Amino acid sequence: MSSKIYKLPSHIAIIMDGNGRWATKRGLPRNSGHREGVRAIERTINACLKYGIKYCTFFAFSTENWKRSKEEIDGIFELLREYLKKNDNTFVEKEVKISYLGVIDPFPEDLKKALLDIMEKTKSFDKLEVNFAINYGGRDDIVRAVNKLLQSGYNKITESDILNALDTKNIPEPDFVIRTSGEMRISNFLLYQMAYSELYFPKVLWPDFNEKHFLKALKVYQKRNRRFGGIK
Ligand code: FPP
Repeated sequence: MSSKIYKLPSHIAIIMDGNGRWATKRGLPRNSGHREGVRAIERTINACLKYGIKYCTFFAFSTENWKRSKEEIDGIFELLREYLKKNDNTFVEKEVKISYLGVIDPFPEDLKKALLDIMEKTKSFDKLEVNFAINYGGRDDIVRAVNKLLQSGYNKITESDILNALDTKNIPEPDFVIRTSGEMRISNFLLYQMAYSELYFPKVLWPDFNEKHFLKALKVYQKRNRRFGGIK
C-alpha cells in the first residue's frame, strides 16, 4: 500500500460507535469501552497530523446521550476531564487547536473550565483543529442558529446565514463522515453541514480503530467521485 494519499478530505467527522459492544464482548463495564475509545481518539489525532488532515470532529456526547445511566454519563465526563488534563501540553507541542461544538452549560464547572482553558491556550494554532461535539445535536444546532438570527433582527434568511450561525461557523463542512461499528445512521450529527459529505461505515468497533483503519478510510474517500449535485 503506497503511503502517498492524494485528494485528502479537509474535514473528517467521526461518529465513534461501538464502545459499549467492545466492552460487553469482553465482559467489562461500558465505560471501559469509552476509556479504550479515548485511546482511539489519540491514535486518530496522531494520524490526522501524520497525513495532513486539517479538521477533525469527534461526536463525544449527543443531546440524546443524557438518556444513559448517571454512571455512564459521569464516566464519560471523567474521561474527558482526564484527557484534557493529560494532553494539555501535548496539544501545544503538536500545535493542535481544540474547540467544541454543542452547549456546555449543563456540564460540571471544572470540566467547562478545563475545556475553555485549553481552547484559550491553543486558539492560535492551525496545524490541525480538533472539535469535540459534546451535548451536541444537529437539530439543536439548527434551532439555536435560527433563534440567533431571529434575535439579530432577521426576518428572511439564506442558506449561508444559517451556515454562518451554526456551531461550525469557523470551520468547513465535513468532507468525510465516518461511523464505526457497522451501524448506518447519522444519529442527529452535523445534519445541515453533511448535505454533501461522503459517508463511510466501516465495521470496526471504535476502540479498535487504528492507523490502518484510518488509512483505509482515506483510500475509500480517494475513490469517491464528489459531484455536489453536478455532473463530472
Ligand atoms: C458511542 O458508543 C460512544 C459514545 C456515546 C461516547 C463516546 C465517548 C468517548 C469515546 C469518551 C469521550 C472522551 C473524550 C476525550 C472526547 P456506544 O456506547 O453507543 O456503543 P454501543 O453502540 O456499542 O453501545
